Amino acid sequence: MIILGIETSCDDTAVAVLNEKGKILSNVLSSQDEFHRDFGGIVPEIASRKHAELIGYVLKEALNLSSKTLKDIDIVSVTYGPGLVGSLLVGVEAAKAISFSLNIPLVGVNHLEGHIYSLFLEDSPLYQTSNPFPLLILIVSGGHTELVLMKQHLSYQLIGKTRDDAVGEALDKFARALGYSYPGGPAIERLGSKGDPHFYRFPRLNFKGSPYEFSYSGLKTAGIYYLNQHKNEIEKHISDIAASFEEALTDILVQRTLRAAKDFNVKAIGVVGGVSANKRLREKFAKKSAMDVYFPGPNFSMDNAAMIAMAGAMRYKAGQTSDLRLDAVSRLKLA
Ligand code: KG4
Ligand code: ZN
Repeated sequence: MIILGIETSCDDTAVAVLNEKGKILSNVLSSQDEFHRDFGGIVPEIASRKHAELIGYVLKEALNLSSKTLKDIDIVSVTYGPGLVGSLLVGVEAAKAISFSLNIPLVGVNHLEGHIYSLFLEDSPLYQTSNPFPLLILIVSGGHTELVLMKQHLSYQLIGKTRDDAVGEALDKFARALGYSYPGGPAIERLGSKGDPHFYRFPRLNFKGSPYEFSYSGLKTAGIYYLNQHKNEIEKHISDIAASFEEALTDILVQRTLRAAKDFNVKAIGVVGGVSANKRLREKFAKKSAMDVYFPGPNFSMDNAAMIAMAGAMRYKAGQTSDLRLDAVSRLKLA
């Protein structure tokens, strides 16, 4: 069984080809960073136009690299939400056209479910692990910060989420205030790796009675306020400031996740989404967690189409396919 995965929920145009075991035959991604850089963030209108321009080329490249042709594809899997609606539509319409013309099943996938299934791809420690459940998942991306309990495949119970900004959003805005363009996470990581994480103590908010909830708006504001108040120190201490911000941000994630893991008595923890690439976060989990904590393989934390193909294969095996009425859903929920 050969699965084609398509991902266009944000600013990356991505197509991958997988076999049913999660072995990646090709994984192509065209980044639009250069088209959005000057605007300080992603411009939805530019993103959807670029997806429409690029999707055909990216598809062709993914097929070539996998040494497959369209005729070899058995299932087409596509992200239909959450994300920018104009961007999602390009992927969804492309997938529907492929499904209709080849007369093959179409599977709509939630982008967050895709991130979760990055843990089950080839090269991931959970690859072909039959029963890692109950598994606690921490989703940390540009738009989401959520704790999700999985008692079995394709089943999700929301345990906690952010009340305001996502963790990636706080990182991106703080990085922007320091003069770094989107995505800001890698820039903060690079700077922070050389700095003193205890240089300044940024706030770590806790909510009484809601131990699994997050808030990153306060930390973001505290970070930007600090920069405005200490303009003369920035140049000399930029690495220390970045490290301190990263330290607060990751402390909160690890503390909430380990608390939930204990309370829900899970077997293991999985951390997914763009921010799961962060080295400080990975090291902190390794140091503080008594149980196994799994991360996506190299390059699979950030958006990609291999994870969408993997989630699509799982849904297909469970008999959950879509039809040609599939539509983009900008605020699609996971659980
Ligand atoms: O999952 P993703 O690629 O896209 C969304 O679905 O949002 O996540 C993007 C987010 C951005 O906020 C970016 O700054 C962050 O992931 N990110 C990182 C790192 N690489 C990407 N944050 C911290 N450390 C990194 N190494
Ligand atoms: Zn994502």
